[in-house]
Amino acid sequence: MSDSASGNPLRIGIAGLGTVGAGVLKLLTQQQDILAARAGVPLVVTAVSARNRQQDRGVEIDGYAWYDNCLDMAEADDVDVVVELIGGADGTAKVLVENAIAAGKHVVTANKALLAYHGQSIAESAEAKAVAVGFEAAVAGGVPVIKGLRDGLAANQVERIVAILNGTCNFVLGLMEEEEVSFEDAVREAQDVGFAEADPTTDIGGFDAAHKLSLLASIAFGTQVNLDAVLVKGIDSVAAEDIEAAKELGYRIKLIAVADRNGGHIIQRVHPALVPLEQPLAHVGGPGNSIVMQGDWVGTVEFGGPGAGEKPTASAVVADIVDIARGFQVPVFGTPAAQLTPAKSASEDNSLAPYYLRMELADKKGTASTMTGILAEHDISIETMIQKPEEDHELGANMPVIVVTYATRDTAIAKAIAEIEGAGILAGSPNVIRVESL
Ligand SMILES: NC(=O)c1ccc[n+]([C@@H]2O[C@H](COP(=O)([O-])OP(=O)(O)OC[C@H]3O[C@@H](n4cnc5c(N)ncnc54)[C@H](OP(=O)(O)O)[C@@H]3O)[C@@H](O)[C@H]2O)c1
Repeated sequence: MSDSASGNPLRIGIAGLGTVGAGVLKLLTQQQDILAARAGVPLVVTAVSARNRQQDRGVEIDGYAWYDNCLDMAEADDVDVVVELIGGADGTAKVLVENAIAAGKHVVTANKALLAYHGQSIAESAEAKAVAVGFEAAVAGGVPVIKGLRDGLAANQVERIVAILNGTCNFVLGLMEEEEVSFEDAVREAQDVGFAEADPTTDIGGFDAAHKLSLLASIAFGTQVNLDAVLVKGIDSVAAEDIEAAKELGYRIKLIAVADRNGGHIIQRVHPALVPLEQPLAHVGGPGNSIVMQGDWVGTVEFGGPGAGEKPTASAVVADIVDIARGFQVPVFGTPAAQLTPAKSASEDNSLAPYYLRMELADKKGTASTMTGILAEHDISIETMIQKPEEDHELGANMPVIVVTYATRDTAIAKAIAEIEGAGILAGSPNVIRVESL
């Protein structure tokens, strides 16, 4: 075993040589002098593994021991740190990480899905074995938000985190606004330029952001990672009409990840939200990530930058390796795993927020007054109401209406919308989007 106190090189095995793994290998090679100086010992790659040895990865791999079966790396005597860059919540990545910890090796991973599903058990076994599990790259790619939150803000009780954690969704929503295209066209274009996967469900459905949020929430609130406690709604419900109306009203639609202390009933939710244009989160462009946190002593702190890609993600992975070489070791989620408390589900959210409602009122007399009357019965006041007739709107045709309410509770909105739908005054389903401010 090596650390800066022993002076021995830190020996690294990298499993997975795709976008991130090849990037890590390049970075460790190209910056080796700077890294050795900062780490206090040389960082030496001794072993690599991927599925296909013959594949050109844009980096030389001949000088390292090659493992056809990466699980053997967990047993190798000349590996101190196993770097897992395979991906996936289960399967080989999970077994590799578990075996490496059991063998007393440190682990660095960029795998948010693995930690979102198995973070608690991984933290428990790592802490029992006194080894580190670094996962800076798993949340917001190159942005050092794990260290920022876990170490830099360790003195604070965190009240709230509001973040943009998925670059694909941010890119797609940006295209919908800039190019005035439908959701489907924007996803296709994002796929063409490499910002969306062939199967974009994990990103578009909000699940990737939920994985990341569950990790941030654990660190922020001292709760166990619990994906089931995250309310998740993706951006596929956002229509071109919503993007246009939001813009007219002074907002931009973003996929937002929120973790809130909420008076002790911790809330975790990922969903599209209208963000006021005067807030910095509204201006996070393209595939960028941004995380805004409120701590009781520090106030508001913002982190932002590239949330993915070979170089930013490799930068975060290697920073974790440097920490290990320096002998810096903390509980995986900041609080010892045995002291993390269970995270509850998001159903107890009683926070107040304005809501945007887009409805198509049916061609009948009195539909608008019935709708506003139902909102009033639920103590929901209207801040703005605009009618959006089609250019060729004919008298008696259905009428699209946009309503922005004053701050109200999610439960009141849900009940009012159910009643409005039941009143037979709508043509089609309404779209309801929360307005999110810091
Ligand atoms: N890409 C990003 O920008 C980014 C950002 C943040 C976090 N991450 C996370 O980083 C991890 C890796 O992502 P990536 O984009 O680099 O993925 P990727 O390009 O698909 O690379 C995956 C690598 O894993 C290898 N692999 C698959 N099964 C294996 C096995 N059984 N044994 C050994 N190697 C195996 C593949 O081998 P072959 O090359 O031979 O097929 C490939 O080299 C994921 O957890 C991802 O969520 C990625």
